[in-house]
Amino acid sequence: MCGIVGYIGKASAPSVLISGLRRLEYRGYDSAGMAILEDGSIVVSKAPGKVSALNDKAHADWPAERFVRSSTGIAHTRWATHGPPTEANAHPHLDESGDIALVHNGIIENYRSLRTRLEGKGHHFYSETDTEVLAHLIGDRYKGDLFQAVCDALSQVEGTFGIAVISAKEPGKIITARRGSPIAIGVGEGETIVASDASAIIAHTRQVIYLEDNDIAVVTADNVDIRDLHQVPVTREVNELGFDAAAAEKGGFAHFMLKEIHEQPDSLRNAIRGRLDFNLGSSVLSGMGTSPRDLAEIQRVVLVGCGTSLHAGLVGEYAFEDMADIHSEVQQAAEFRYRNPIIGSRDLVVAISQSGETADTLAAVREANQKGAFVMGLCNVVGSTIARETGRGVYLHAGPEISVASTKAFTCQVAVMLMMALKLGRGRRFSRDEGMKFAKAIEAIPELVQKVIEQSDRIEAIAARYAENEHAFFIGRGPMYPVALEGALKLKEISYIHAEGYHAAELKHGPIALLQEGTPVIALANDIPGKDKTLGNVEECRARGARILGIITEGDHEAAEAMDDVIEIPACHPLVSTIPAAVALQLLAYHIANVRGCEIDQPRNLAKSVTVE
Ligand code: F6R
Repeated sequence: MCGIVGYIGKASAPSVLISGLRRLEYRGYDSAGMAILEDGSIVVSKAPGKVSALNDKAHADWPAERFVRSSTGIAHTRWATHGPPTEANAHPHLDESGDIALVHNGIIENYRSLRTRLEGKGHHFYSETDTEVLAHLIGDRYKGDLFQAVCDALSQVEGTFGIAVISAKEPGKIITARRGSPIAIGVGEGETIVASDASAIIAHTRQVIYLEDNDIAVVTADNVDIRDLHQVPVTREVNELGFDAAAAEKGGFAHFMLKEIHEQPDSLRNAIRGRLDFNLGSSVLSGMGTSPRDLAEIQRVVLVGCGTSLHAGLVGEYAFEDMADIHSEVQQAAEFRYRNPIIGSRDLVVAISQSGETADTLAAVREANQKGAFVMGLCNVVGSTIARETGRGVYLHAGPEISVASTKAFTCQVAVMLMMALKLGRGRRFSRDEGMKFAKAIEAIPELVQKVIEQSDRIEAIAARYAENEHAFFIGRGPMYPVALEGALKLKEISYIHAEGYHAAELKHGPIALLQEGTPVIALANDIPGKDKTLGNVEECRARGARILGIITEGDHEAAEAMDDVIEIPACHPLVSTIPAAVALQLLAYHIANVRGCEIDQPRNLAKSVTVE
């Protein structure tokens, strides 16, 4: 949520900043801005709208030589929290003197009282943002040492921040700090890049340092000096990024979402590789803890997450109960810490988060840690806050997910939870042979998904028949119920069609009143226990004029006859089938949104990494 880039080095700062912002645009895209150092002063350009608007404006307003000569700057792409997305509210913000510029990701909770105090001292504010207050506070504390001024200001701030600061009086350095919002520092040859995440860094270097909460760093072209809030030096390891620049490009696809859908056979292979044990009929997930006794002591699995990750957790809930005989439940991360969750040392709390930065999920992790639960993370972004604060967990290895609508992270989350259920199940109820069978079913997932992706053109043709509707219902039962929720979420977020996911049996308890001639009902009616009942629910919808698109098992003529249109998925284990079924719905949503001419990778009002509550 909001993307930050800072650059200091030998290249053209404005160009590096713009290309970095483009890579971070998925974090927010309602306005953008940059500030660079030039001949002892700060020059700012800002524009409402996307990064391309900023690029056009800077090229129109600034002399060409500025792009060549300037080698230090900071930039920001915004997802508005305080104040609408106007030029005035766009970052960077300046202090009263105009010598200090700041970009910020997060929320300064006590900004009102700080602003009143500063106004009392004669400060003038030009925006409605919390961030401008922090810029002024730093300026107010400045007595010739920018690092000291940032430390002083941050000690007065309540809330969350990832910031980058420059000063005309101290060229040749960027001060960056974090509390609650991520900051990565790329250490290149004679250049250093500060960014909200590594995708803005990878074009320059693979060597990255992740700041921890309350770290403050002085960054120059050749050095990174990190201290804590008390200015005591701290050491943070340099990590080697596990992906290259191409992974963060569209690679010939029209959209990142389509690319990421197509990547799923590979990302699933990466998530599964080396994690199935065909001798023991189990899985090898050392991140879950190595002691079989610890795992045997787990009496309940509590899954927490938001959005798509929450839906993955709902599939996991079925898997843990069905395969491992463990009482399992899903809780919305946003509710977890506010409802006095009853958890203790024999509860396994699994925090599911692609980004590893979602504020509510992180808060749930902290609550669970506080209560002494056995906490683990299921994250995609290596080194992310949730991955670090859980201390144990399983990475998805899905590769960078740039599209705001999550696709490959969901399927990898489910695949990893199936492997977790297998491991726990082997310690409880599964025989070796049963374990072996399930391991084989998991191993086949990438191929199953490939078969769905090969139907993309067919799904595109079907999508064209549903693209004009303004409402849609997704129904399913058992583990296909969360897939229905996820299908509806995908459709609504990228196509702006009002879509609702329901348990197939729930429809007739109210929502069926909304069905009219031609209302689309997307029925997950593949061959799992309960399919016949779902087919019965389909009949109820047809009787009210609904148009039914069925996700059915390949060759199931009976199910096909009940539908107006069908997408077939290969026959497989019921829990495993959630993954190809979800991919079919991803493609459906993508093609419908494409027919409607929507901005698929950057849907309105959204941002990828939600670092505010
Ligand atoms: C929807 C989507 C969101 C995220 C949610 C949690 O397509 O991507 O619903 O799933 O914001 O994000 P993470 O998984 O990063 O915690």
